[in-house]
Amino acid sequence: MADNRAIGIFDSGLGGLTVAREVMKLLPNENIVYFGDTGRVPYGTRSHDTIKKYALQDERFLLSHDVKLIVAACGTVSSVAADTAEVLPVPFVEVVSHSVRAAVSATQNGKIGILATSATINSGAHKKQILEFIPNAEVIESAGTLLVPIVEEGWTGDTDPVALETLKRYLAPMIDAGVDTLILGCTHFPVLTGAIKNILGDKVTLINMGVSTALAVKDMLQKSNGLRDEQNTGNKFYVSDKTASFQKVANILLGDYDKDFNVEQVDIEKA
Ligand code: DGL
Repeated sequence: MADNRAIGIFDSGLGGLTVAREVMKLLPNENIVYFGDTGRVPYGTRSHDTIKKYALQDERFLLSHDVKLIVAACGTVSSVAADTAEVLPVPFVEVVSHSVRAAVSATQNGKIGILATSATINSGAHKKQILEFIPNAEVIESAGTLLVPIVEEGWTGDTDPVALETLKRYLAPMIDAGVDTLILGCTHFPVLTGAIKNILGDKVTLINMGVSTALAVKDMLQKSNGLRDEQNTGNKFYVSDKTASFQKVANILLGDYDKDFNVEQVDIEKA
């Protein structure tokens, strides 16, 4: 038994490519349909109602591509709009719960940091779930609002002065509290790993939501006999706006992964 339909992945923009990259690495046979809402990014500063409306439209678009499973590769959607999945006819994977499990297994001292968008931090989603596993955990949250535009600008070098200075401010409470584990709770942030390590050193474990989510996707498909039994026949990438910096940002977020992808623009309101 196999299911050769594609896996649908969406994000408010291109940050979700850090999740898509991990899924493509772990499950190279799978076809991916990716939608990035580049015309309406960021979601992280918007109201719950707007984020839910956008998430439903994104999910509907992916369903129109006959996907077998949908991944919300966006910390913000996963934190405040995961209930949109209740009406989906296919399984749904969000990025929060798997990263929480990875953080809870990694921590030795029970002090865990969350660096995410303000909508994610305000939702308290990570904190609530961490406290279910470790009731006396110390959770230090920081809304790294300026980091999304910094990544979009491509200022992601390990020693980039703007990235380092901004990160130092957001990470100061984590350093003061002595966290030993930090969840990168926004899918844009894995590309700042080098700069974050330069500030926190090697003793703090960084949790990349893409890695934990890709493992969850594999596990879910394996258990339901839903893995593809043929080779990949091509991934499809869609955006709601082909911005001038699109290719630059996509290259940064995809890292060493396949950058020769074709991207199509869609009108998501009408999709
Ligand atoms: N990809 C979003 C997230 O993971 C960050 C960008 C946004 O604010 O929409 O939360």
